[in-house]
Amino acid sequence: MKGLILSGGKGTRLYPLTYTRAKQLIPVANEPVLFRVIRAIRDAGISEIGIVVGDTAPEIMEAVNGGERWGVNITFIHQSAPAGLAHAVKESLGFLGDDRFVMFLGDNVIQGGISPLIRQFADSQWNSQIVLTAVSDPRQYGVAELNADGSIKRLVEKPKEPPSNLALVGIYMFDRHIREAVHAIKPSFRNELEITDAIQWLIDQGYVVNPYIHKGWWIDTGKPGDMLNANDHVLEEVSPRIEGAVDAASQLDSRVTVGKGAVIENSVIRGPAIIGEETVVRDSYIGPFTSIYHHCLIEKSEVEHSIILEHSRVTDVPYRIADSIIGRNATVTRSEVKPKAVKMNLGDYSQVGIL
Ligand code: G1P
Repeated sequence: MKGLILSGGKGTRLYPLTYTRAKQLIPVANEPVLFRVIRAIRDAGISEIGIVVGDTAPEIMEAVNGGERWGVNITFIHQSAPAGLAHAVKESLGFLGDDRFVMFLGDNVIQGGISPLIRQFADSQWNSQIVLTAVSDPRQYGVAELNADGSIKRLVEKPKEPPSNLALVGIYMFDRHIREAVHAIKPSFRNELEITDAIQWLIDQGYVVNPYIHKGWWIDTGKPGDMLNANDHVLEEVSPRIEGAVDAASQLDSRVTVGKGAVIENSVIRGPAIIGEETVVRDSYIGPFTSIYHHCLIEKSEVEHSIILEHSRVTDVPYRIADSIIGRNATVTRSEVKPKAVKMNLGDYSQVGIL
């Protein structure tokens, strides 16, 4: 069995972060979302993984490399245009050959432990397996309508009037018959070759598509709030460990992870929280559900329920920072320079909430 990860896309809803970084490389609990997907596939015993890349190809290729870090072989596949998930499969057929495969969307974050599901498909006779989960607004997704016996009646992409609340999660398993399907379908209302339509084609031809209902959490990380939400969930899965230096004046609870070379001085950290490698936290409070990435400085400040990316500095900030995402090499600090005012130098599409 092979793995296929889709990692194209511009991530426009995550501007300004995605002006300078592929959305799949934004970390949750200090691990890029894409790396988490690679691990999930590797844990299912798959070692041949293709990654479909688009405009952000150089950055993704540099971050992932050949996959040695995970003990897998990575092949990069360049998608000629962002023309849909089924189009990405079509352009990956050379890599996939006739093998069964699992396809993952590289920006989806799902509760750990889905590897048995992939192995179950590998050992089955099913032609496809899809993952469904109940959501509050199905109109944003592919939606499944099931028969009374639990089999799939039909699938519809972004329905205005959803036939159920069961959305298609970004994990799909196929055998070689998907080849015929992606050639048979036509572009959708949004001018994309939809994987939902390809699966409907399999059903219409009488192939067996098994629906698996996922009961845990799942987040399609499109917007900033989704990143924070994913960060909350993944932080709760992390097994805490202290690898940095924590002084006697600091208090850390049992759900805090401190990376190698990090220094915590005279601070209080309430978990779940993670402090990255070589980061310094001094005279500060870090509250629950916070991820601070590598090489940051937090000094005389309070931060909670936030994500801070590498090489950023938060110093002498007189009020608590919460519900925030701060990009790389950013500085948030108190200004003594008159006039007494909030002074900002923000990228396009930045959002600031003032007290
Ligand atoms: C895609 C699929 C949709 C699925 C969703 C999951 O949507 O087309 O069926 O429910 O991923 O994340 P898109 O992200 O292209 O809007």
